[in-house]
Amino acid sequence: MPDTHFIPPYPPRHSQPLGLIGSIRKFRGSMLDIWSERAFSADFFSSRVLRRTVFIVNSPEIVRETLVEQAAIFERKSPQMRFALEPLLGDGLFVSDGETWRARRRAVAPVTHASRMAELAPVMTEVAAEWHARWSAIPAGAEFDALEEMAEMTAEVICRALFGRTLGGDAASRVVHAFTAYQAHIGQTALGAMLGLPEWISRLGNAASTREAKRIHVVLDDLIADVLRKTDGDASLVRALTALQAMEPWALRNEAATLFMAGHETTANTMAWAWFLLSNSPAAAARLRDESRAVLAGRAATHDDVPNLPYARAVIEETLRLYPPVPVLAREALADTVVAGKTVPRGSLLLVVPWLLHRNPLLWENPDHFIPERFIDGQPIRYSYVPFSIGPRVCTGQQFGLVESVICLATLAQDFLPMMKPGHDVQPVSRLTLRPGAHLPMLMGRA
Ligand code: HEM
Repeated sequence: MPDTHFIPPYPPRHSQPLGLIGSIRKFRGSMLDIWSERAFSADFFSSRVLRRTVFIVNSPEIVRETLVEQAAIFERKSPQMRFALEPLLGDGLFVSDGETWRARRRAVAPVTHASRMAELAPVMTEVAAEWHARWSAIPAGAEFDALEEMAEMTAEVICRALFGRTLGGDAASRVVHAFTAYQAHIGQTALGAMLGLPEWISRLGNAASTREAKRIHVVLDDLIADVLRKTDGDASLVRALTALQAMEPWALRNEAATLFMAGHETTANTMAWAWFLLSNSPAAAARLRDESRAVLAGRAATHDDVPNLPYARAVIEETLRLYPPVPVLAREALADTVVAGKTVPRGSLLLVVPWLLHRNPLLWENPDHFIPERFIDGQPIRYSYVPFSIGPRVCTGQQFGLVESVICLATLAQDFLPMMKPGHDVQPVSRLTLRPGAHLPMLMGRA
């Protein structure tokens, strides 16, 4: 029986749209807090925010119309996304557009292409086995931070897959802490850009995030230098980034930063949310444990096991529906256009909002409930489920993230079921990515 009784937390939905001041105040804290009840079932609406009109997309047809059919007009990321990520990623693939984006996409996409999964997955299996051993050493009932644990685990996976060497606990936790601080600083940058204030005002908030970005760059520069020193050509990065090595060093670093950050933060959040959801859904946790034990019999999952772990995959897919790590896909219109019959002037912001779309009651039954079975019994309506975005800018690491999550979850779920720390209130928060707050304190439990 699905655990249909469990409704995981979400911020209160306002009965009326918030006014400008109310929205600004909420937006500074988290971009999940600004939505009214009506927004979840509205397909397309707009709002004037000082100097800009913001269009909100919440229907499969209009997702297709904008991100696929009019992809060239909606290719550019919104200024708030670009300014917020610039100190860390420079002109990396995630934030660039135009010719730079096209050239970089051609170089970067093959690095984690679906066809390379069998080659990349062994490091996922290796790290999953290490984390199984690490969790075995944590006494039952002991408290740990599941968000940090998952961030370190996924940072280790991406580091070994891309750079062909271990990251190590100290470097992993420096990256994790710096990125947490980074996200805390970007509110002002994002807000200024959202309001259409001049760029120099929006960028004033960047000084603090630049400091945190430098801490991450130190770790990355060391990894890159190490890879470039190698001449044997058998480290995975050396093979995979052949095209990238022809780039200027700063461009190489920007792309390495992009892959490293995009490649571990999103997966870490997914895994942390999955543990939270499972800790509240005994039937789902039991079904996952039974499937994992039946298929794996105590060993770590491999790439070949993934097709035999449909429930683990469904848990991940349902987690990505409820808590999409990138809850807002923000674009700036590059030309005047028409969307769903409405004029969208050049320079407008267009937000495709998985947070709304994935909980739209016209598209999903019991939209706020955690029901992994929905991904086993059927498939979502096309373009109604976009945790990896869609169209030419779709996530290049989609397969990597899915395979990694299934391998790690199934390996650990055979023996472990962390439980929520009593009294800790979990609320989704999003400045850039969607996290369960800054920490997720859980108590180690056996499955
Ligand atoms: C569960 C895991 C993941 C989720 C939910 C996710 C989600 C996304 C989303 C939504 C975007 C597009 C953002 C937008 O359109 O504004 C994106 C882009 C991107 N992702 Fe992922 N991602 C995941 C894992 C990964 C991994 C593992 C990698 C690399 C190893 C990766 C690399 C990238 C890159 C390079 C882009 C930029 C693509 C472009 O703009 O052309 N992602 N991701």
